[in-house]
Amino acid sequence: KKVVLAYSGGLDTSAIIPWLIETYNCEVIAFAADVGQGEEELIGLREKALATGASECYIVDLKEEFVSDYIYPTITTGAVYEGEYLLGTSMARPIIAKAQVEIALKVGADALCHGCTGKGNDQVRFEGTFAALAPQLAVIAPWREWDMVSREDLLDYLAERNIECTASLTKIYSRDANAWHISHEGGELEDPWCEPTKGIWTLTVDPEDAPDKPERVQLSFEEGKLTKVNGESLTPYGVLMKLNKIAAAHGVGRIDIVENRLVGMKSRGCYETPGGTVMMKAYKALECLVLDKASLKYREQIGLEYSHVMYDGRWFTALNDSLLAGAASFAQKVTGEIVVKLYKGQATVTQRKSPNSLYSEDFATFGADDVYDQSHAEGFIRLYSLSSRIEAMNKKGQAFK
Ligand code: ARG
Ligand code: SIN
Repeated sequence: KKVVLAYSGGLDTSAIIPWLIETYNCEVIAFAADVGQGEEELIGLREKALATGASECYIVDLKEEFVSDYIYPTITTGAVYEGEYLLGTSMARPIIAKAQVEIALKVGADALCHGCTGKGNDQVRFEGTFAALAPQLAVIAPWREWDMVSREDLLDYLAERNIECTASLTKIYSRDANAWHISHEGGELEDPWCEPTKGIWTLTVDPEDAPDKPERVQLSFEEGKLTKVNGESLTPYGVLMKLNKIAAAHGVGRIDIVENRLVGMKSRGCYETPGGTVMMKAYKALECLVLDKASLKYREQIGLEYSHVMYDGRWFTALNDSLLAGAASFAQKVTGEIVVKLYKGQATVTQRKSPNSLYSEDFATFGADDVYDQSHAEGFIRLYSLSSRIEAMNKKGQAFK
């Protein structure tokens, strides 16, 4: 029997390897995805997996694909979960789980395994992908099976087997990082009345310590894709890396929220999405220039719906494809230039232009103009408010004339 494990090298997945071998008498193949979480998590990973008992360890570079095929399409929907969360962890799960399935099919595995707790969203996102792509494979979720409950239990488990592990007894926070964001949950954050301490944040400068001088960054979009930063052409991943660096230095992209998990409970989390925050703001500003009122309203509805589709792990569904197709159609118009000013935690759009702009200074001006005949407004408003007028007259018992 062969099992492919989504492996991170942390304490949980380190304990899972020997546990799988003992419990299922199987061969364990470790798999890790590089979605831009940073070198520290990947260096020495293979050696660690093999030392812990895995027969093989695959590390797949998904950085460009993650940004171009998952992040960019999501940006075009404008999805923001519960008004604040930019979906960093949610977007990474389908691409990681898909790559895991591909390895499993390649090596002829019988089962897929992940280290998500039984209390969160990630288990749903992983297993939703497994179900859509390889329903024939068994799924093993150790946290729902074993009776270990604490880090101490896991460390004891490894020590009893003489398996070396550098993990410490106390790890305060549960963190998840990729090219788009880092999330922080647990520790004192579990008390929603507790203000996050400085040490929680790892990616961005504290806005209070950010430079006193603002910085402007110019973004070029082509049919919904961000192609240049300050005039420099970059790959999708390159764009995001550059914006992360610029925005993080100004403390942009921090949020602290209580959110509804799919599995019922509320959880409190802090998130840092520096480059993503700038991209989302710029994208929306350009949409405002090129989409008419009805189109923008519909795009906003797509975004609201899509935020739940993405959060709830429903990437491999017909609804997902349909919403992305709708957003992609609007995105064709999103071409142009945006300037964003970064200053002490804020990202503010200050300049915009587009060849597809529907904005006309000639029409909008508060000065004298000869293109917009204001007398037309009177008839428009009379018809537009006709039903209100009739209702009011009825109430007064007057016949409508
Ligand atoms: N609450 C966020 C979400 O559901 C972040 C989850 C972080 N996951 C983790 N394994 N630490 O998308
Ligand atoms: C986990 O439960 O593994 C992390 C949190 C989440 O999935 O929401």
